Amino acid sequence: MSVTQEIPTTSPIGRDTPRVDGPVKVTGKAQYTSDFHFPGLLYAVPVGATIANGRILELDTASAEKMPGVRAIFHRANIGKISRSTPQPNFQGICEERRPPFEDDIIRYYGQYIALAVADTFEAARAAADAVRATYAAEKPNVETHLEADDEPDEVDTTFGPRHRLDSQRGDIDAAFASAPVKLDQTYVTPSETHNPLEPHATTAIWDGPMLTLYESSQGVVNLRTVLAQMFDLPNENVRVITRFVGSGFGSKLWPWTLCPLAAAAARQLGRPVRLVLPRKMMFHAVGHRPRTQQRVRLGATPDGKLVSLQHDYIYQRSMLDAHHEDCGEATPFQYSVPNLRVTFGRAKRNIGGGADMRGPGRVPGLYATESAMNELAEQLKIDPVKFRILNEPKIDESLRVPFSSRHLLECFELGAEKFGWSKRTPQVGSMKRDSLTLGWGMAGCSWIAARFPAAATVELRADGTVRVACATQDIGTGTYTNLAQLASHRTGVPLDKVEVALGDTSLPEGPLSGGSMATASVVPAVLAAADNAIASLMTIATGTTGFFVPRETLINRFENRQHDDLAFNDGVIFVKADGPAKGVRFDEILRSANLRLATGSGKSEATFGNPKPKFSTHSFGCHFVEVTWQPEIARLRVSRVVTVIDAGQILNPLAGRNQIQGAVVMGIGMALLEHTSYDPQNGAPINSSLADYIVAVNADAPPIEVYFLDYPDKEINEVGARGIGEIGVAGIAAAITDAVHHATGVRVRELPVKIENLLA
Ligand code: MOS
Repeated sequence: MSVTQEIPTTSPIGRDTPRVDGPVKVTGKAQYTSDFHFPGLLYAVPVGATIANGRILELDTASAEKMPGVRAIFHRANIGKISRSTPQPNFQGICEERRPPFEDDIIRYYGQYIALAVADTFEAARAAADAVRATYAAEKPNVETHLEADDEPDEVDTTFGPRHRLDSQRGDIDAAFASAPVKLDQTYVTPSETHNPLEPHATTAIWDGPMLTLYESSQGVVNLRTVLAQMFDLPNENVRVITRFVGSGFGSKLWPWTLCPLAAAAARQLGRPVRLVLPRKMMFHAVGHRPRTQQRVRLGATPDGKLVSLQHDYIYQRSMLDAHHEDCGEATPFQYSVPNLRVTFGRAKRNIGGGADMRGPGRVPGLYATESAMNELAEQLKIDPVKFRILNEPKIDESLRVPFSSRHLLECFELGAEKFGWSKRTPQVGSMKRDSLTLGWGMAGCSWIAARFPAAATVELRADGTVRVACATQDIGTGTYTNLAQLASHRTGVPLDKVEVALGDTSLPEGPLSGGSMATASVVPAVLAAADNAIASLMTIATGTTGFFVPRETLINRFENRQHDDLAFNDGVIFVKADGPAKGVRFDEILRSANLRLATGSGKSEATFGNPKPKFSTHSFGCHFVEVTWQPEIARLRVSRVVTVIDAGQILNPLAGRNQIQGAVVMGIGMALLEHTSYDPQNGAPINSSLADYIVAVNADAPPIEVYFLDYPDKEINEVGARGIGEIGVAGIAAAITDAVHHATGVRVRELPVKIENLLA
């Protein structure tokens, strides 16, 4: 299937498209949340608990209140009422930490906000926050890293509708595993990871009577609006949330955290705008992290490499407050063909801040475990790991018993192996050398869900020849401004530089979260429908049909009293089909002749995410091939080369798409080799809570990363066949790296990140 027949050459879809917001970003004109200034702006700094378990006995704010420039110290007794937010349909009203700030005096994790200092300057607020004294009845926090599942009832978060993947079962797993000729039984551990986007969480609250405006660095302005409306007992239309640009979020900004209502409550009481920007250290406390997981994987196979059983039992760490579910077993039931399967989960509560979605939540740690197990079993079977996967490729989703909408994983393996040169791999540990370096080659497969959130958009065709497309989704650095411009340009034929995109504002039509790699897939139908409706209203204007008070004498008579069906619209021009486009008239000329400023259309699309009975199993697929170099003399391990192939449907913008996958691979290198958040067993504090101590992969860690996309538009997901690519690149990469590490060193590391000390044994 080739798209080039369907997408005209004038369309920007599928073509490398530099970001339309690039110029404002590189010239510093792009306004991030803390760039907006307001008269009378006050600055807020939260005070975090210095214990992780216990109770506040006394809070002494007296000396802080007397400090110069201090306007108020807020705490439980004076913050005013903040209600809990109730989850609602369509992914509204959702927070990861359900407890509003200061609701009681119990401390459940280190850094939990106990007070808020507000002052004329950031420095004064910070000094005042430092001067607040708390006395606690402290108990020993539970930050134990070994996870045993709690006995507590599993009230699973059903926010997203039925989660049919939670406990999957088919066949007779116990008998199948017991009698399997070849077996593997291993446990894999992934640590807590902290998101650490470059732009910290930032919020600015402004009240105008009963109207609240919040500037926020958010991955979901519409949900945040609903949450704030509930917390402050306001109708939704009284709250406006604005997010023009986001310095990334990785999931930490997907759902609101307690700093938003704190800023809003302080601003309401003081009658002044209040800004709260989190210091980096506080980014480790109360704004989410990827939860630690411990996953036991049992595989059974025949000697010739057919899987007979797969059991995946995982436990994840959760906080005392969050409703987050780390869905590690999400891909397990359909990634491979296996007749006997069981997936179970358990949770272990700890005195830590709330867990949250982090780029590729659930599946990324999950696929690290299952793909690692596949590699280990392939080695045991003496079968090449690519071949082992090919042998177990399913024909349908064996869990849902429906076909895949579009799955070309085998072609990913084939292309990846060819580009990487996989056939030259010799399987013996340490058998491959280049110069004085030992090489390790590893690979893994990956997948990520493809689905849509509900979305609405408007498109305006304007008399000045420009087009405006608007949607209350947001661009979190991934290229959403450009995607919407491309879609509007695709449908209207108006060039990209004449398309204006408005995002990140709840006064626009309700758009999707920038999450789950679903924003693009969600907006496609809404924007295309909006453009079609704008074109239809233009035709109504052109034909002088009812509903528009267009002066008759201004009508362009070749369209007068024609039916819409007689007309066509192409490349910005309306024409009578029988006459052809040469006799057409540009839309802006029609609008000007009718003395109208614009023709507008709205479009909407429904969610597919959470559909309990889908006709197809919709996912993106891919694989990574990784080379590491190992110098045992100096214990130096580097990732030296990566080839990644992704099957994600129609890629709207391959330039931004490759960039997304490369960034995800770099993040995956961090996951495999560097990132972990450690909690102090004494006081429960995240110990490495700075970018000097929490190590992320940087440019020097990034090898050449070749990215290839297959070209199979998935028409089940939307008309252009675009799925989503924000997260799939992190999936599987850690398993490919640890397999390459084993190939080079002979050491199987099953607890991330791989540390040098693991390799010195
Ligand atoms: Mo992503 S973890 O859904 O922002």
